[in-house]
Amino acid sequence: MTLDIAPSKETYLSKSIFNLEFENLFQKSWFFAGVTSDLPEAGSYKTLHYAGYSYLLIKDRNGNLRAFHNLCRHRGVELLEGDGKLEKHITCPYHRWTYSEEGRLIAVPSQKTCFADLDKNSWNLKNAGLGILNSLIFLHPDPDACFENWIAPVKDFLWPHDPTSSELKEQPELIYEMQCNWKIFAENALDGYHLSHLHAETLGGPRPEENEWIRCQDHLIWYARDGDGDRHSLPLPVRDSLERRRASKIAHVKKHVFGGVYFLFPATLIVPTPYNFSVSQLLPSDEGSTDLLVRNWSLNSWFGGEDYSLKDIDGYDPETGKIRSVKWSRPALKSNDFQTEDVWIAEKRHKGLRSPAYETGPFADGSGGEEAVLWLYSALRRQIDYPDQR
Ligand code: FES
Ligand SMILES: [Fe+2]
Repeated sequence: MTLDIAPSKETYLSKSIFNLEFENLFQKSWFFAGVTSDLPEAGSYKTLHYAGYSYLLIKDRNGNLRAFHNLCRHRGVELLEGDGKLEKHITCPYHRWTYSEEGRLIAVPSQKTCFADLDKNSWNLKNAGLGILNSLIFLHPDPDACFENWIAPVKDFLWPHDPTSSELKEQPELIYEMQCNWKIFAENALDGYHLSHLHAETLGGPRPEENEWIRCQDHLIWYARDGDGDRHSLPLPVRDSLERRRASKIAHVKKHVFGGVYFLFPATLIVPTPYNFSVSQLLPSDEGSTDLLVRNWSLNSWFGGEDYSLKDIDGYDPETGKIRSVKWSRPALKSNDFQTEDVWIAEKRHKGLRSPAYETGPFADGSGGEEAVLWLYSALRRQIDYPDQR
């Protein structure tokens, strides 16, 4: 299949196209910011960065989550760092303007002398958009962005997993530092054609006629249909292997049918299975580098093995806290890990882009082929005014 929106090499290599995407997509989108149990008690806070902006989440004394832009209203200094428990208020280190946990400006040093006319009510922290779904927290830079509108297209197909349930245990958070354009990783995540090839040893399929992506406006959901033809969240060889090993299933998800991958446009991936649950967020750094943050909850561990610690992860670089392919000790295809295989192939694709011999080939027909990649581009084109690529 060919389509007039098939991406040219400039789509991945151009700094100006990346800037367009950064400003018109990532700085105007919902993104995954954590889970409600990241803020366990009144006064807990968590800060994070996404697409160049700094955010602050606080659990207030009534147990409600609040989301702010993490900037002092005086000179814009970043207020808090990391995560923890508020002393009582939020005090800016520069001139000690102080805000309540509700974001109200409550104290300004030397106010009478320096700011005689200041109306403190006009200088509260600015809110960010906040949405919570099955204990997952999503943020948006615009406080008026409507979370319900964004999530509505997948509402009828949701996963039942609650990562804050006592049944589940979180494994260490992983950050892959990938040397590729963000769209290359996203395309691969939507590519049903590669599953039975690149992942022959790790997932074992399914073939294009045995899997499908369904389109929910700009979001996409993937199902494995190998074996009995029903919709499953895992490929048949993985289902069989887990059954043989009598791996325990998560009790609260047992009775449900749900997808195996949810691609929430533009850059969040949710992977629920009967055995574990993971959420990944792409964090584009520049046109040629992208971080992938992965959080994973399981009964025991990834597909029923032992718990892992970061130092056990091949490629983990303690200096940066990230997993980097240059640190891998063995070939990706010997890693026994499909995530490693995907990162490896995304970096290999990116490397080939500069060659004069590079041109985009045809896309595999079908929603279990590569059609979903083209759906991604049609969604991107609705949001971004790309310069003509052809
Ligand atoms: S920048 Fe925060 S008090 Fe001045
Ligand atoms: Fe893959």
